[in-house]
Amino acid sequence: MNPGKKSRIVLFTSAIAALAGLLLGYDTGSISGALGFIADAFRLDTVGKGSVISIVLVGGILGALINGIVADRLGRKLMVQAAALIFIAGAAASALSPSAGALLASRFVLGLALGAVSASAPLYIAEISPAAGRGRFVTMFQLAITIGILLGYFVDRTLTGSGEWRLMLGSSAVPALILLFGMFVVPPSPRWLLKMGRDEEAKDTLLKISGGSVSHADAELNEIRKVISMESKGGLADMLRPPVSRAFVTGIGLFLLQQFVGINSVMYYAPSLFREAGMRSPDTAILATVSVGVVNVLATFIAVWLIDRAGRKPLLYAGLAGMLISLTAIGGVFALGDSDGGLGTGGATVIAVWFYIACFAFSLGPVPWIIMTEIFPLNVRGRAVSIATMSSWGSNLIVSFSFLPLFEAAGAAFTYWLYALVSLLGIAFVWRLVPETKGMSLEEIEERLLSEKR
Ligand code: BGC
Repeated sequence: MNPGKKSRIVLFTSAIAALAGLLLGYDTGSISGALGFIADAFRLDTVGKGSVISIVLVGGILGALINGIVADRLGRKLMVQAAALIFIAGAAASALSPSAGALLASRFVLGLALGAVSASAPLYIAEISPAAGRGRFVTMFQLAITIGILLGYFVDRTLTGSGEWRLMLGSSAVPALILLFGMFVVPPSPRWLLKMGRDEEAKDTLLKISGGSVSHADAELNEIRKVISMESKGGLADMLRPPVSRAFVTGIGLFLLQQFVGINSVMYYAPSLFREAGMRSPDTAILATVSVGVVNVLATFIAVWLIDRAGRKPLLYAGLAGMLISLTAIGGVFALGDSDGGLGTGGATVIAVWFYIACFAFSLGPVPWIIMTEIFPLNVRGRAVSIATMSSWGSNLIVSFSFLPLFEAAGAAFTYWLYALVSLLGIAFVWRLVPETKGMSLEEIEERLLSEKR
């Protein structure tokens, strides 16, 4: 076997599929900057503005559901391509929208594509990756999300002078095009091929991604076959019973944690947060926001480096503990400072927010995406991953909707302390309910899961 060639192929394949994350992040990063111009163009009030942001999340829930219905039949690769195509249509339609209604409709379509691709792309990457590097390769999906967010901030900043919101929205079609065509040159998931009884093609793919080693490909083929033979039919009843039902608690629970520590209240509302903390100049607040994007990207590399060395659980513990501390501190700054606290308060908030973002970026950012692709048996994997992804979109929607009312009604300190409490509960959740999957093949994880049942 040629290990160098092997990891280059998987790296290239994962990088292409990870572009799906870029689409997701770009929308998160760019929409807040475009929103002001859109509101002016279509005379939107607060509810209208909120809808422009959150309609994508509603589409995301439905997109993940549709993915669940068709993914196991169509396969991971085709699903990613179909979603990329729908995304391109949605991006073009949003850029050309003649009215607020048309914009909402096209952003809903965009959400459908994002929901589908956020389930199928990480799953595809996990199924073509070798056990020892799977965490790292799936983390590339999260890395792409963070780069997308940053790119969105930059494009906004560049186009703010001219107010070209249509270009801000339409430009996301470019990475989607690369994703669509890039997926033509990568192999289909060998695990899915075997599940569909396409053994010869599965063997070809395994040969390709194992750098041409026949013995290695054969061993993996047999291992996957063995696990398939242990599986039940994978009907609805199987999904509602242990061990799959238990895996759902883990997968969905991790996504609820990911969203309920309040990450997107910072991603969407960072400028207002910094202004509230006393940074009066709009420029300073925007600069602070861009710095949040940079910290998010950089700290994700900690996960790339450590996820397969230290493992998933140590990263989760460290990240949750750090988030607990920083969220408590952010709440504290708001509780102590008066509203015109000036740069002193603002500076302390920025540092606490950087620390919070960094801790999220190496833990709750990537790990739920990784774990969801690992803990479900192959016979239900496509559907189960889609359901877990739906919970991510759904809880994102809840946090996005509740953040501002909560902030206004209960105050900033209470809001951040509530998120801190979630981090604390998260530590207990990880301890009790998250398995360590570092270095294990998907088949070894499945065998462990199935033996628990017995
Ligand atoms: C989450 C997004 C979040 C992003 C921040 C992702 O893992 O799913 O909701 O905006 O991380 O980097």
